[in-house]
Amino acid sequence: MTMILNNKRILLGVSGSIACYKALDLTSKLVQNGAIVDVIMTEAACKFITPLSFQSISRRPVFTNLWDSGHGDIGHIEMGNSTDLAIIAPATANMIAKLAHGLADDLLTTTILATKAKVIVAPAMDGNMYYHPLVQENINKLVKMGIIIVGPNEGRLASGLISKGRLSEPYEILGHIRAILGKGGDLKGKKIVVTAGGTQEPIDPVRIISNHSSGKMGYALAEIARDRGAEVILVTAATALPIPVSVEIVPVKTAADMHIAVEKSLENADALIMAAAVADFRPTILSNQKLKSDKQNLNLSLTKNPDILGTVKGNFIKVGFAAETQSLETNARKKLLEKDLDFIVANNIIEIGSGFGSDTNRVVILDKKGSINALPTLSKQEIAEQILDKIVEIIQ
Ligand code: C5P
Repeated sequence: MTMILNNKRILLGVSGSIACYKALDLTSKLVQNGAIVDVIMTEAACKFITPLSFQSISRRPVFTNLWDSGHGDIGHIEMGNSTDLAIIAPATANMIAKLAHGLADDLLTTTILATKAKVIVAPAMDGNMYYHPLVQENINKLVKMGIIIVGPNEGRLASGLISKGRLSEPYEILGHIRAILGKGGDLKGKKIVVTAGGTQEPIDPVRIISNHSSGKMGYALAEIARDRGAEVILVTAATALPIPVSVEIVPVKTAADMHIAVEKSLENADALIMAAAVADFRPTILSNQKLKSDKQNLNLSLTKNPDILGTVKGNFIKVGFAAETQSLETNARKKLLEKDLDFIVANNIIEIGSGFGSDTNRVVILDKKGSINALPTLSKQEIAEQILDKIVEIIQ
């Protein structure tokens, strides 16, 4: 659950494309995060899926008709006024053309004209249609009007054609919604560098030394800092997580790569949050051929990696993580002092509901003034909010 969507009024317009089914998933994700979703479907959209499908997920009436009884003829004005953000997903070529020319011949187009809220349009159509000069011209018109266009993505289309025209994935659209809603947040104007994932130290062209870090904590931090208005650079080692939108991504492999990327990203930064699990050692020699497996023993010589957090210096808030299996507070305080941190987030990774890969964590936050804050088991998103609250507090 992310705070930014809680109690926000989202108007979701659905026009007639086979990609309608993805709008159901988007509705579900919005509702799960606390948003109040008003769905308006065009007549063509109702040929693909029924209003009941949306209604079952949004648990609110779904509107399809400008003249719906009970809704009144000022319904579109009221909906337009009360919404925090409007999104049309999927938006067909016809819908885009109507928006570009200010037509208002159905409930959705009328409501979009009546809203002052930000509007996102996520096109979906066949590739040849998408590249048609008229469609491109209409999309450019929408961009000039300040409408945000998300996608479409490249890939296999319903016609079998491999081209641009696929509706963006619901998590991508959700990322854009969160980023737009968060623009004026309490981290507005601040630059935050976050690291995530476990670095990979190559032994030979096939093998690596790595760790169990999933990257979930770092990605949650990057996304929530973005939701709160920050400019975010995410320096990320390999993870299996979807790439966050509206965040600058710097992919790295090794600790040495991460060190260079972090140093570079820190220019004018207000905070560095090192959530990455940096390998402490790397193989001294990188074999350029695959090591043979016909031996009974193999001795690897390892060399210490640079301590990124302990080395970087500057006028920014330094936050570290300490993954421990024993003497949590003592070890974390030692790291806090050694690495000269503003605060450290310590967790015992062998506790249930804590540590690598888990969606939750139980952490203790220790700061340089000596305060200790032991939090209950929380989702990684909730922990990210607490960490960012502390950063806001220090900045102020
Ligand atoms: O590995 P250790 O427990 O010392 O990590 C504590 C903190 O230091 C973490 O925030 C980690 O990202 C960071 N670290 C680092 N460079 C290393 C090792 C750890 O920046 N070589």
